[in-house]
Amino acid sequence: MPELERLTAQILASSKYREIAPDLVRRIGAQELEKRRSLKEAVKATKNKLHQVGGAYQQTKLNYEKSLEMLRETAVSHPNFRTTCHQLMQAHASTRERLLMLDEFYQTILANLPPIHTVLDLACGLNPLAYPWLPLPKEVQFTAVDIYSDMLNFIQAFFEIARINGRTQQRDIIGNPPTDEFDLILLLKTLPCLEQVDKNAAANLVGSLNGRYLLISYPTQSLGGRGKGMVENYTQQFQALANGRNWRVQRFEFATELAFLVQTELRLREIM
Ligand SMILES: C[S@@+](CC[C@H](N)C(=O)[O-])C[C@H]1O[C@@H](n2cnc3c(N)ncnc32)[C@H](O)[C@@H]1O
Repeated sequence: MPELERLTAQILASSKYREIAPDLVRRIGAQELEKRRSLKEAVKATKNKLHQVGGAYQQTKLNYEKSLEMLRETAVSHPNFRTTCHQLMQAHASTRERLLMLDEFYQTILANLPPIHTVLDLACGLNPLAYPWLPLPKEVQFTAVDIYSDMLNFIQAFFEIARINGRTQQRDIIGNPPTDEFDLILLLKTLPCLEQVDKNAAANLVGSLNGRYLLISYPTQSLGGRGKGMVENYTQQFQALANGRNWRVQRFEFATELAFLVQTELRLREIM
């Protein structure tokens, strides 16, 4: 068996990594085999990178069975259902950071959008559970994408319980960016994470997407606490990404997140 196949099989056999999209394991594995002296070192380095881009956000893994029970029990009464969603979103470190400002975040940013029929949430984490806070029509079609099959199965079951017109896709968005048209594409705190694997990932991804509106955000605190200079740093990164593209941009700064709402050329051509 070639080395890359052995590395991929070994990693996918371990309980911590077996739910991750095999394409991403292969992509990182190939990079590490180039850099390391042995298969053993490459396996270790691949696991570290997978932890950095995925596992680190799920230190306390949800018990999905129990969580679905809680959702089913509270689905009948709206205020309690929101409380359950709020509680469950705490299990993803990145989604959790948005909880204190959830109402304000989506209400402010999405306030003046034209009717939205389709939403794509890329590298979604547990953000689809924020659906009850989205100021969008009930029949909106919501597609959630991430690398963890177990988390996506849970999100799919959540959609069914909440009667959301939703679907999930396991996908490595670095190697296989979606190209279908969507009214709104969410790229929340994701680009820096993808760039840990491939320096050109953000530009390649954004260049492939076909969204009328993109909501691109960056964290303003690191997993360990508030980060110095993150606002300035990510403002510059966003400007570099936007440079040369026909975009109309609105900027929003919240306590833990810096967000840019982009009207893309696809939208601008429609309204001109
Ligand atoms: C910083 S978190 C952001 C989560 C979510 N967007 C939010 O803001 O609540 C990054 C997410 O990207 C996912 N991810 C990492 N690499 C990915 C890839 N190549 N393709 C798709 N998703 C990826 C991780 O599993 C994780 O859920």
